[in-house]
Amino acid sequence: MILLTGGAGYIASHTGVALALAGIPYVVLDNFCNSVPAVLERMHEVGGLKPTLVQGDVRDAATLDALFARYPIQGVVHFAGLKAVGESVAEPALYYENNVSGSVTLIRAMQRAGVKTLVFSSSATVYGNSDASPLPESAPLAPINPYGQSKLMVEYILRDVAAANPDWRVACLRYFNPVGAHISGLLGEDPRGVPGNLMPFIGQVAVGRRPQLSVFGNDYPTPDGTGVRDYIHVMDLADGHLAALRYLQGDLTGRNCLMANLGTGQGISVLQMVQAFEQYTGQKIPFEVAPRRAGDLASYYADPSLANRVLGWKAQRGLKEMCEDSWRWQHRNPMGYAQA
Ligand code: NAD
Ligand code: UD1
Repeated sequence: MILLTGGAGYIASHTGVALALAGIPYVVLDNFCNSVPAVLERMHEVGGLKPTLVQGDVRDAATLDALFARYPIQGVVHFAGLKAVGESVAEPALYYENNVSGSVTLIRAMQRAGVKTLVFSSSATVYGNSDASPLPESAPLAPINPYGQSKLMVEYILRDVAAANPDWRVACLRYFNPVGAHISGLLGEDPRGVPGNLMPFIGQVAVGRRPQLSVFGNDYPTPDGTGVRDYIHVMDLADGHLAALRYLQGDLTGRNCLMANLGTGQGISVLQMVQAFEQYTGQKIPFEVAPRRAGDLASYYADPSLANRVLGWKAQRGLKEMCEDSWRWQHRNPMGYAQA
């Protein structure tokens, strides 16, 4: 049985379904600070397996001790965390408490329970302003905001924990830009308030919740002047977690802590994404060119070859699936899970 901390969130809910379809039962721990309980019903419907829910906070040692005592947990995928870059700049202590202290509390509880397998949700944000794309894992690590710092701190803590005890098995997965939704249209990304990220914003324009998209800058040194990113379908990401869990069950002699990029390796511009969305969904996305967004980089995308080689994992879904699945989710659930 696998514990998914933050299990009701966007990426975790898709990973839970992938686990269920692989016949692996899981427990969800979530405090619902950025998700809603209705997600669990959808996970049940899509995955065919009723998730066990423990409502609680990963910073609460007593909750974790009770959870590990009650369920036969063999490994943990640690998604729980806060992820809004702007909020992390305004409220750094909140981010360090949730993301760093929360992770330490979890690690200590795992130690008490004798559970030593952990997959951690890290982020390409640990590379900061690097202009060395495609980015290999060896690229300099220099996050530029407290959110990114919190992810890197947890990576360092896990590296040290794994070095101190060879029985620990750790994978830190550095996600690039997760997009898309489950093909059923029942699970997807449901941001609160105005979406900060490109794909949910496009979806809300398509469904009529927003009049138009603002393209943040068209004067970047990229082929069409707009920002280039490595968008990865959330179900490919989910499969990456299964591949990591499988890898951690294998013979890891001497390398019990893996840092791996999860991306496609392909850079896509904002305008390319808008065009693809229009092409694959038939929906018009009106846009205007707006000033650059502070803190944005021109271009970054992954070198995913380590994950390809070591995990035997490769992103399978292209722009077509990303756009079609986002649209299916958006248009069947125009107000997200609020309608559920
Ligand atoms: P999300 O907000 O949808 O999911 C996070 C879940 O964790 C939510 O359900 C939230 O309620 C829960 N949570 C937060 N703090 C908690 C706590 N202290 N105790 C218990 N539950 C808590 O976010 P997501 O996009 O699914 O991201 C999951 C993880 O992946 C996060 O750690 C995030 O930093 C990381 N990540 C996300 C992206 C992205 O673009 N979505 C990119 C890179 C890394
Ligand atoms: C953001 C986060 C990053 C996180 C990533 C995950 C910031 C500064 N960074 O990065 O930490 O890991 O999401 O998905 O928030 N864009 C528009 N109009 C919009 C929204 C976005 O033009 O309304 C552009 C951006 O300028 C960028 C691209 O679309 O070029 C992607 O933006 P976004 O989805 O916010 O992702 P990132 O900026 O890569």
